[in-house]
Amino acid sequence: MILVFGSINIDLVARVTSIPLPGETVLSPGYETLFGGKGANQAIAAARVSLPGRVAIAACVGDDVFGRSASDNLIRNGVVADFVASSTKPTGCAFITVDERGENAITVASGANASLTEARALGFEADDSTVAVFQMEVPFHASLRVAQRVRATGGRVIWNLAPAPPHFPARDLSNLIDATDIFIVNEHEAIAAARILGCETADFQVAGAYLAESGCICVVTAGARGAFAFHPDGRCETIEAKRIHPIDTTGAGDTFVGILANGIDEALPFRTALKRACHGASLACLAHGAQAGMPTREQLTCAS
Ligand code: RIB
Ligand code: NA
Repeated sequence: MILVFGSINIDLVARVTSIPLPGETVLSPGYETLFGGKGANQAIAAARVSLPGRVAIAACVGDDVFGRSASDNLIRNGVVADFVASSTKPTGCAFITVDERGENAITVASGANASLTEARALGFEADDSTVAVFQMEVPFHASLRVAQRVRATGGRVIWNLAPAPPHFPARDLSNLIDATDIFIVNEHEAIAAARILGCETADFQVAGAYLAESGCICVVTAGARGAFAFHPDGRCETIEAKRIHPIDTTGAGDTFVGILANGIDEALPFRTALKRACHGASLACLAHGAQAGMPTREQLTCAS
């Protein structure tokens, strides 16, 4: 069973010709209110391709309309939402601008996500079949303790270092990697993480290989270039991405993480799990918003 410990947001999305620079104002014809949050996105990406009842989320929303509709949305998508608490803070909100090429810029107002504690995950009985999934939009130390507990029961931990915190202490990053089986980063996050641990490089492949030396599998998602999996023994697997014309890349990384978690949960060969994750992430770029383009199990099977 997969447990996602992470954020739930409502995404307010404005489409613009180009993303405003500091001090600049741009006009957008309107905006959309969509479901998002890296935790919720990853849980839904996993649930859409999983057998029923295999994916749960531990998270925190506000006692407000956004929180209730986000919880309903998780349940509608087949995510077990028994470990979603409500807090006195408002539901997390992400302010997203998407440009004509499908690139985005995002500001996340954490709200209730900042109230998530490890206690939320206590009702979930972790064992050696658990695959726990973490990101960086909820309190780090709470995530770390849940990860360590899952590890202690023989379960596996997938950690997506997104968004990469600007001043992340080396000690925290080392503890994170020690508690992680599969560490997932994009090119920038790979370079930033390697730098924190003392490896100065501008090359994400050098960074990925360095991070894997600590004993985890380091998967670097590289957009149109596909994904690279660096193993502790020095091996590197590469998966090419299919050529697409992205409409909105929001949620692509989350789709990758969720589908990879499903592959691990179903004990697929690692390369197959990576290929499915890559393919699902491309499909997610073909629809507006984080969740609309996430494939179902059938869509993923037909297309691969
Ligand atoms: O990864 C995409 C997500 O990041 C969005 O849904 C937004 O909520 C932000 O958390
Ligand atoms: Na998308």
